Amino acid sequence: MKFLAPIFALVALTAANTVQFEPLSDEQIFYINNLSGANWKAGRNFYPHELERAKRMCGVNIAENMEYNKKHLGIKDIQVREDLPDTFDPRTKWTSCPSLSEIRDQSNCGSCWAFGAVEAITDRICIKGGGQVHISAEDVNDCCKSCGDGCDGGYPGAVYQLYASDGIVTGGQFGSEEGCKPYSLPHCDHHTTGKYPKCKGDAPTPACQLACRSGYNKTYTEDKRKGSSAYQISGEQKIMQDLVDNGPVTAAFQVYDDFLNYKSGVYKYTTGQLKGGHAVKILGYGVENGEKYWLVANSWNEDWGDKGYFKILRGTDECGIEDLIVAGEPKL
Ligand SMILES: *[C@@H]1O[C@H](CO)[C@@H](O)[C@H](O)[C@H]1NC(C)=O
Ligand SMILES: *[C@@H]1O[C@H](CO)[C@@H](O)[C@H](O)[C@H]1NC(C)=O
Repeated sequence: MKFLAPIFALVALTAANTVQFEPLSDEQIFYINNLSGANWKAGRNFYPHELERAKRMCGVNIAENMEYNKKHLGIKDIQVREDLPDTFDPRTKWTSCPSLSEIRDQSNCGSCWAFGAVEAITDRICIKGGGQVHISAEDVNDCCKSCGDGCDGGYPGAVYQLYASDGIVTGGQFGSEEGCKPYSLPHCDHHTTGKYPKCKGDAPTPACQLACRSGYNKTYTEDKRKGSSAYQISGEQKIMQDLVDNGPVTAAFQVYDDFLNYKSGVYKYTTGQLKGGHAVKILGYGVENGEKYWLVANSWNEDWGDKGYFKILRGTDECGIEDLIVAGEPKL
């Protein structure tokens, strides 16, 4: 009996305090892969000295966004049907919408809030028969003052409101010469070695220009695409139903430093400190090794994570991923 008490105390202490490591260190990666028991793999996406840069790419203040959505966006009433499938991948349902398979790159700018929204808006226009255009992240990031602070963060919910009230022009990725306002910040390697140049220091928010690129055959006003609704969705099954019926939604969640080096599998928090909030596009869902997940597109280019995508645990509000779901319908 004498020995049991200290052992019990030690176990309790370990359970209450997660093991911590230097963020992004080899030790942290080893812990995630070999000791944590999690069903996901980590690898080198970022080095420890890149932590601050990675942090800036997470441009969502979770508490402020909760407040914003509560104030401005109604919760959509969704009837969950019995035929809701166990897995869903929109890339196999709406095969004539290539944007569903695209991964964008926000560059060295905290514009994830703009990307997470315009990517889903883009997909839904195509899904509803409006053709495959690309909605411009640049337009929203630089010009939407009510959306937040450009490269220093903003509100995905406000992007949907802007879409419904004023509309947003088109614009593809950097260098694409596609649409009215393509993204002006270059693709860059957010991590070790890939096919792009290394990301440079923090990009300032580009100046807002209420005009299309030269050579584009429509005016800025003519090019705007408008939405017909902006709403929140609450509850796992309702999110699933909206994905199946209407296409991708925008989400935001809490990023801990273990997430930054995600490579594959179903992410759930293992170790590390909170780094910020991050907006993304949820496109589908499924089950892997008995774990339910959301299938998510990130905007850190296709060299990050699982070819630009990640899976995250579904149904338990992992890192708040089910708390800030917003979406909207196109007006065609
Ligand atoms: C740790 O996990 C990685 C990734 O799954 C694996 O490649 C490696 O062999 C493991 N190392 C040890 C010592 O178990
Ligand atoms: C404008 O350009 C697009 C594609 O570049 C083309 O499909 C369209 O017909 C053009 N419109 C006019 C009015 O020239």
